[in-house]
Amino acid sequence: MSRKALIAANWKMYKTPAEAQAFVDAFLPRVAGHTRDEIALFPSPVLLPAVVPACKGSNVAVGAQNIHFAEEGAYTGETSIGQLKAVGGTHTLIGHSERRQYFAETDEIVNKKLHTALKHGIVPVVCIGEVLEEREAGKTASVLQTQVNGAFAGITPEAAKPIVIAYEPVWAIGTGRTATPEIAADAHRIIRAEVAKLLGVGVAAAMRILYGGSVKPENVKDLMAQEEIDGALVGGASLKPESFTAIVKY
Ligand code: PGA
Repeated sequence: MSRKALIAANWKMYKTPAEAQAFVDAFLPRVAGHTRDEIALFPSPVLLPAVVPACKGSNVAVGAQNIHFAEEGAYTGETSIGQLKAVGGTHTLIGHSERRQYFAETDEIVNKKLHTALKHGIVPVVCIGEVLEEREAGKTASVLQTQVNGAFAGITPEAAKPIVIAYEPVWAIGTGRTATPEIAADAHRIIRAEVAKLLGVGVAAAMRILYGGSVKPENVKDLMAQEEIDGALVGGASLKPESFTAIVKY
């Protein structure tokens, strides 16, 4: 089963609108005509009105780093799916480990957000991954299985088709410590097997599982050489057009 890779930039809480515009101006010509992989940028919500129009008509999609599960309401500081759609965003990250760690997002919240994204036709990139203590305690498989089951509760095989998973071992995020391609591929196999149990072998075989955690121009090729790795979610190394281009064109 061949799965089209997705190479995604998670800009986290970086860049002003002018800096985002400068990135896009430098980046789009560099990746023009690149069709091997899908490309997506995930900027902060205030950058979306600059980045979405700047990428319009290009091969680069734009999404949010987070959405609320409610369609609207009294949720100060949050962004709704309708707001994301209104500015032209097509994707969203869900359950990034920084959301789980600093904003108390649980598997239950991730699940609600996933239902909201799918209902509104937004491509969800669901982030899962174990922390260092869990890996060292030999709990990686059970943590990933629990996260997959929690995130996917109530999702039908038909509805699940657009879902992308990002496996991001928390100990590898922003630490410079990348999982080896073999460690990442092992985790991806565990995740895919769990998706197969829940949603069937066909859905699991077609689902893209990205790797994230200190992906850089120097290690992307070896990671992508793994059959199980269907793309990358890139933080630090996605902030400069040169290095993100090098990753896209590994
Ligand atoms: P990193 O971040 O590439 O800086 O490790 C990845 C992520 O958090 O998505």
